[in-house]
Amino acid sequence: MKVAVIYHTYDGHTREIAERIARVQEEGGRTVELLPVEEAPECLMGYGAVIAGGAIHIGHHDRSLRDYVKRHAGDLSTIPSAFFSVSLSAAGDETEREAASCYVEELIRESGWHPDAVAMFGGALQYTHYGFVKRKVMQAIARRGGKPSDGKRDYELTDWDAVDRFARDMLHLIEARGEAQPQWD
Ligand SMILES: Cc1cc2nc3c(=O)[nH]c(=O)nc-3n(C[C@H](O)[C@H](O)[C@H](O)COP(=O)(O)O)c2cc1C
Repeated sequence: MKVAVIYHTYDGHTREIAERIARVQEEGGRTVELLPVEEAPECLMGYGAVIAGGAIHIGHHDRSLRDYVKRHAGDLSTIPSAFFSVSLSAAGDETEREAASCYVEELIRESGWHPDAVAMFGGALQYTHYGFVKRKVMQAIARRGGKPSDGKRDYELTDWDAVDRFARDMLHLIEARGEAQPQWD
C-alpha cells in the first residue's frame, strides 16, 4: 500500500518538510512516493493514503496545488488524507496564526476536499537565496512581524517536532483505517 506525499514549493523549504514526513512514513513501514505537484499522479488508484502540502506566497497556496486537490477531492475523501500548509504566519502570534488558518480554509472551501488532518508549519526565511528585491521585501515583512531580518543568513521557523507528530499521527491513522481501505473497486 503506497502513500503519496505531494508538495508544492517555491524556494524548497516545503520539500524539506515533505521529505521529513515521507521519511517517517517509510520508517513506519510504508512505501512512499514523494512528488512535486507537477508530477503528482492523476490516477490515485493504488494509493492507500495521500499527504499533500504547500507553501504560502502572497496570501495563497499555489494555484497548481489548489487545482490538484480540487480535481481529486472526491478520490482523496475515500482514503486517509492530510494537508499541511507552510507559511511565516504559522510561526507568528495568535492573529498571524488565524491568517494561516484562513489560507488553509480557502483551499478547503475551494476544493471541497475534507482531509482527515490539517497542520500548519512555520516556514523559512531564505534571504541568501533571494534576489535583491525579494530579499528587501521579505526583510521589511519580517521586521513588521517581529521575525528575524538579517539578510546575510537564512532562518528556519519550523517546529520539526510538530512535523514529526503530524507525520506519526498520519501513520497511526492509516493503520487505524487499515489495509481494508481503499475502496477503489
Ligand atoms: C515572495 C514571498 C511571499 C510570501 N508571502 C507570504 C504570505 O503572504 N504569508 C505568509 O505567512 N508567508 C509568506 N511567505 C513565507 C513563505 O510561506 C515561507 O518562506 C515558506 O517557507 C516558503 O516555502 P517554500 O520554501 O517551500 O517556498 C512568503 C515568502 C515569499 C518569499
